[in-house]
Amino acid sequence: MRWAAAFLVVLPLALFSATHRETRAPAAYGRHWAVVSAQPIATSVGAAVLEQGGTAADAAVAVSMALAVVFPEAGNLGGGFLAVGRDAGSGDVWMLDARERAPLAVTYATFATLPPDASLRGPYAAGVPGTVAGLAALHKRYGKLPWRTLVEPAVALAGQGFKLGPKTTKMLLMFRERLEKDPGTRRQFFGQTPVTGAVLKQPELAATLARLAADPNDFYTGETARRIVADAKAYGSPIAEADLRTYEAKWRKPVRCRYRGYDVVSAAPPSSGGVILCQTAQTLTPFLLSALEATGATAVHLTVAAWGQAYRDRSLLGDPDYVANPVTDLTQPAYGASIAGRIRLDRAGLMPAAATAVTAPAEPLETTHFSIVDRAGNAVALTITLNGAFGNGHVVAGAGFLMNNEMDDFNTRPGAPNLYGLVHGAANLPAPGKRMLSSMSPTLVLRGDKLVLVAGTPGGSTIPTQLWQLLTYLIDAGWVLDRAVSQPRFHYQAEPDRIMHEPGAFTPETMRALQAMGYTLQERGRRFGDLHAIAWNTGRKQWMAVADPRGEGAPAAR
Ligand code: DON
Repeated sequence: MRWAAAFLVVLPLALFSATHRETRAPAAYGRHWAVVSAQPIATSVGAAVLEQGGTAADAAVAVSMALAVVFPEAGNLGGGFLAVGRDAGSGDVWMLDARERAPLAVTYATFATLPPDASLRGPYAAGVPGTVAGLAALHKRYGKLPWRTLVEPAVALAGQGFKLGPKTTKMLLMFRERLEKDPGTRRQFFGQTPVTGAVLKQPELAATLARLAADPNDFYTGETARRIVADAKAYGSPIAEADLRTYEAKWRKPVRCRYRGYDVVSAAPPSSGGVILCQTAQTLTPFLLSALEATGATAVHLTVAAWGQAYRDRSLLGDPDYVANPVTDLTQPAYGASIAGRIRLDRAGLMPAAATAVTAPAEPLETTHFSIVDRAGNAVALTITLNGAFGNGHVVAGAGFLMNNEMDDFNTRPGAPNLYGLVHGAANLPAPGKRMLSSMSPTLVLRGDKLVLVAGTPGGSTIPTQLWQLLTYLIDAGWVLDRAVSQPRFHYQAEPDRIMHEPGAFTPETMRALQAMGYTLQERGRRFGDLHAIAWNTGRKQWMAVADPRGEGAPAAR
């Protein structure tokens, strides 16, 4: 239990985060390594790995496995992730795609025969999970410590239990009615009423994790695979033995672009994130944003105009193994400049309002992101998800983990908006073995060969716009990371044709100015995301790790 010792070292930071999150983003500084995740226990597990000399990849495995236990609303074994990282030795940047796939028995026509919510609830909602294969691939290429030691903390947390934090407790209670309908899910989470501070033990999950600690392939070809398939048969899910056996995590080339002397590196398809981020960067390059008030009406107007086109173009994207994605076309400077030239400076230059009236989903959604830098300067930005909170709400019998509801990220009902109000194109129709389009945007920023930022966030379709706000506040406005993370956020995705924003995102004058330009504004009470980032602080010559004050995450650094 070597990790337990370092747990004590970082605990004060976790407490700090719990008491100070209302006002200022919790921050930690360190010269050697840094880690920040949405859950203090998971951060501690990662810190211990880094302190022992583990690589960023080692820590990413340990944090992900811990999140699968202590953050059940989004951490998972039954979902998927996208990660972007940097190998300090070679200077190479990489992307790892552990996104779920459609079961081989699913075609573009499947959902037409099912109820409209079938992509979100029940047996057809789940894609074939990629998390375990992805972590194994990450460890194989960039890990140093033995795999088993990275999974063991999670085994202990599941078997011995952990104290429920306020947020997970709240989420469990909020989703209780739906989750309790599934007998396995009820047994796992509602043996006793969830209360903050109560110890949650997950013995079946501990047993699964113990098998995975011995061999990650167990998930796809061993005992865990057998349990998944048996459960799928009983539950009516199309996931079969061949789906698991043939699942592969894929190394891909991240999307890259230059923005004011910085290199932005983010997720390529099957995510739309990097494309939206880079298209926005190219569109805004001709404008001298640093001369404008960062959250003033003109800067917001230009940004929203860029996003509007980027979200319209998003519908061209899909799984790169199935469709040709116009990534180069969409992210090249000339295309951005042509969009910039069509933006009117005095009023909302938007296309005709969309016919679909989409409102923001009423219930909280969950995904989670963590960022890590190790002693050697390797970095991992990893966003992991079940899609909606607790995925499809079904715990695999005898295996102790929830399945995802990621199939909703496909174009399952052509023309109809999905959970995030996104209307998808032909490139994102379901097909056997295909990956559904994502918005997840794990992101790195470099200046020359120096890594300066590792970042990401949950938030469905708002993920790329949250990341953009972070970039422009850091690069154009020159803000320090904690200020940039704390700043109330706004979002625009063309459909619906309105700027959604957190309370306090704009001053009354800015709101009036935007309305005068023709914008509709809509305040959303719910938080936008839970952004966890690490930036190089040039003044202190140290890493600064910041947890989003919107959540209960914790940074650690040394
Ligand atoms: O991949 C995607 O874009 C979504 N499944 C992510 C979901 C999400 O961020 C929910 N979080 N708040």
